[in-house]
Amino acid sequence: MPSHYTRIVLNERPPGDIDPKTFRSEKVSFSELKVKDDQVLVQVTWLSLDPAMRGWLRDERSYLPPVQIGEAQTMRAGGLGVIFDKGKNVKLKIGQLVSGTFGWTEYAIVREKDTESIDVPQGLLDIDYLNNLGMAGLTAYFGLKDIGQIKAGETLVVSGAAGAVGSMVCQLGLRAGAKVYAIAGSQDKCEWLEKEIGVTKAINYRSPSFRKDFKDIGYLDVYFDNVGGDILDMCLSRLNRNARIVLCGAISAYNSVGKPKGIQNYLTLISQRAKIQGFIVFDYAQRYPEAIAEMSRGLRDGTIKRKFHIIEGLKNAPSALPLLFSGGNTGKLQVIYV
Ligand SMILES: NC(=O)c1ccc[n+]([C@@H]2O[C@H](COP(=O)([O-])OP(=O)(O)OC[C@H]3O[C@@H](n4cnc5c(N)ncnc54)[C@H](OP(=O)(O)O)[C@@H]3O)[C@@H](O)[C@H]2O)c1
Repeated sequence: MPSHYTRIVLNERPPGDIDPKTFRSEKVSFSELKVKDDQVLVQVTWLSLDPAMRGWLRDERSYLPPVQIGEAQTMRAGGLGVIFDKGKNVKLKIGQLVSGTFGWTEYAIVREKDTESIDVPQGLLDIDYLNNLGMAGLTAYFGLKDIGQIKAGETLVVSGAAGAVGSMVCQLGLRAGAKVYAIAGSQDKCEWLEKEIGVTKAINYRSPSFRKDFKDIGYLDVYFDNVGGDILDMCLSRLNRNARIVLCGAISAYNSVGKPKGIQNYLTLISQRAKIQGFIVFDYAQRYPEAIAEMSRGLRDGTIKRKFHIIEGLKNAPSALPLLFSGGNTGKLQVIYV
């Protein structure tokens, strides 16, 4: 048993971009970790880094309370870990792999009922449960099917398409028989989307020809929006009748100081009888098993592809998180404890 463990807490709220002062690391005595009867002590093995974390740093009303500054809480994060110790009412066994919201820490105490026990089937990886079979994949699945109502033959446009959510949306769209147009921020990402994922066409929003390339797509039936801002506005000007816009995320606005820039082209929603709707994946918790079953099958038979961007060491989580906002991540951003 170690004498101390490391955790990372919010040091100050960043007004704009996350910087080296945003978080600080602490060494805490292991003896502080005492489990109650219904709790488990988890030794964390993997962490997920997600754009939503930027929102959790804002002291604002949202779907979860803001992370507090200082020692009361570690930085919130989903993760994987193994049960290291447990209270007397806990049924799970020591050594069981679990997922949960463990935070940026080497050890976390949580209630047994706030963990998901995982037995990784053959052909899958433990880290799939932080990607396609975790928040990213579930977001893609319910956002595209429930909010987007995608149908065969329709035109689907996906922004943030090379990322964890976006690449899964592209694949679910193709499986549904849609024509899939992917928007991403580099030539390499576009090549991966066309060659590996098999999208109809990928276009680079940093290219000087982006506006023309975008217009060449024609009109769209579903726009799955991960980025907001100008790209959302452009998509609003290219709607087919009865189009659906899935507001999944708006990463271009997460680091904004003050209010994000508004949209202009919303009158097309009226003329094209279109819908625009936001959603939060946690509202689908009852239906996660349906999505996990479908996506597990695809991962196991190789028809669903995934990519990981792995960072080594908890201490590197604060400097890795900004990669999501610069486009420096190539795949699902995760931290392995070493
Ligand atoms: N509603 C929900 O319940 C829910 C749940 C999970 C995630 N989300 C949202 O889903 C989106 C994707 O999350 P993820 O975990 O899959 O992240 P990700 O796509 O793996 O990584 C973020 C990507 O966003 C792109 N990006 C960053 N800044 C941008 C900008 N200004 N304009 C355009 N693209 C930009 C970058 O790719 P490029 O290199 O292509 O620029 C970056 O790689 C986020 O908006 C997130 O908040 C929503």
